[in-house]
Amino acid sequence: MAKLSLQSSFTCLLYIAVLFTATNASPLLLPGLFATTTTTTSKSTATPTFAATSSKIRGVNLGGWFILEQWMSPTLFQQAQSLGPAGSPEPTDQWSVMTTINNTQKATQFLQNHWSSWLVESDFQQIKMIGLNTVRLPVPHWTFNSSADEPYLGGGAELPYISQAILWASKYGLDVMLDMHTAPNSQNGFDSSGHIGAVGFKDTNGPVNAARLNSALVSMTKTFVNDPKYNGAVKYIEVLNEPLCSSLGADYMTYIYQNAASIINGAVASNARSKPQIILHDCFISPLSSWSPAVSSGGGLQNVAFALDTHRYHVFAPRNNMSLQQHINLTHADGDEIAQATNTLKRQVITGEFSLALSCTDCPTGVSSTTSASDIAKLNRQFFETQTTAYERGAGWIFWSWKADNNLPWSYKDALAANWIPSNPAEKSLAL
Ligand SMILES: *[C@@H]1O[C@H](CO)[C@@H](O)[C@H](O)[C@H]1NC(C)=O
Ligand SMILES: *[C@@H]1O[C@H](CO)[C@@H](O)[C@H](O)[C@H]1NC(C)=O
Ligand SMILES: *[C@@H]1O[C@H](CO)[C@@H](O)[C@H](O)[C@H]1NC(C)=O
Ligand SMILES: *[C@@H]1O[C@H](CO)[C@@H](O)[C@H](O)[C@H]1NC(C)=O
Repeated sequence: MAKLSLQSSFTCLLYIAVLFTATNASPLLLPGLFATTTTTTSKSTATPTFAATSSKIRGVNLGGWFILEQWMSPTLFQQAQSLGPAGSPEPTDQWSVMTTINNTQKATQFLQNHWSSWLVESDFQQIKMIGLNTVRLPVPHWTFNSSADEPYLGGGAELPYISQAILWASKYGLDVMLDMHTAPNSQNGFDSSGHIGAVGFKDTNGPVNAARLNSALVSMTKTFVNDPKYNGAVKYIEVLNEPLCSSLGADYMTYIYQNAASIINGAVASNARSKPQIILHDCFISPLSSWSPAVSSGGGLQNVAFALDTHRYHVFAPRNNMSLQQHINLTHADGDEIAQATNTLKRQVITGEFSLALSCTDCPTGVSSTTSASDIAKLNRQFFETQTTAYERGAGWIFWSWKADNNLPWSYKDALAANWIPSNPAEKSLAL
């Protein structure tokens, strides 16, 4: 999730994710549902078939950890400000955190403190205990391919912490979706890309950016998929989070996706304990079935086994200022769209980000002196279960995020404690 999209009014905030099978590939890796490996090398002319998903992806994003977002951890950004020269403005993204602190030693200390405390082993244990099966782990390109042109820490500073996260996931039996969340010169201009502002991925040193992204994906795959100590925990690799096709163009991203998928698959060792499913974000193209030409003969992705990732938020334009019933109806429509795209594209769809945040004209959203806490909790549970019902018409869902400071609609952990989310993530009795 990105703060910029909270503030902007761009109209392409319709999203979903898909996990799919290609015409020459065996089905995707879904927990318990498909085989644990795919045979992407076997050629078959048979029409792909889809097993009815008896086991759905139900997970949380581990956001705010390796890419900082101010709205998720405001206090952290105030700390960064205090580490800069007197009079520094408060930073707004990871880029400005680094330029504000402007001191490698201090920045290293600051970031290491965060990496070792934002999430700890007990979070993974709890995520498993409450019945979730998957974590999506956003990681930045600069961990794997740093550049002197960027202010981030280089040298793989995050690696020991990312490694620890995957080891914990493995220990507790959680599937990991490794999600490349940023790209050189930004794929969307959002804070979640590391750098608010221009969408420069294609037009500012585009070939270098693409090569650096590929380099980072290869390094990430070799490090976290091929090493047997992770025991095959990485079941999915997302090529790039939320590229903005309205700026980058669907053709360009299709080309990037095709190359990246091939490069990732090529980096997986033949004896690796998992063969991760490639995940491609929908690039904010709506409806999802619009990806049809890309998966058709000559489209570029026709032979690529992937699942589509879509993100569905209700708090941003054009979905803001709606009645609760409109939000519910839109959620049903999202479910229809996901089911239709799964059939049309012959690819699975996963909703890799959503939240409880609403922009309702007629419903209580957390703080209201006239509405009881139990009514607010019930409304949120209804909205949650209506959403998960829709998303499970595809491959499943991953909430954004596990943790956000003082922000119940965005924090699974806190919303669960407040009974806004059912204790059993498969519960549907309150779905509308
Ligand atoms: C960053 O620190 C260097 C010295 O290490 C200094 O020369 C430079 O002016 C600082 N930049 C800013 C923006 O404060
Ligand atoms: C980053 O990627 C570029 C382009 O492939 C490559 O030339 C460079 O060596 C890579 N840097 C690192 C640190 O891997
Ligand atoms: C809701 O609509 C009103 C009236 O059109 C407008 O003034 C307000 O800014 C809108 N609120 C949001 C959150 O968009
Ligand atoms: C929601 O959908 C139902 C059923 O299609 C319809 O009757 C109703 O008018 C819709 N409500 C809104 C607010 O769109």
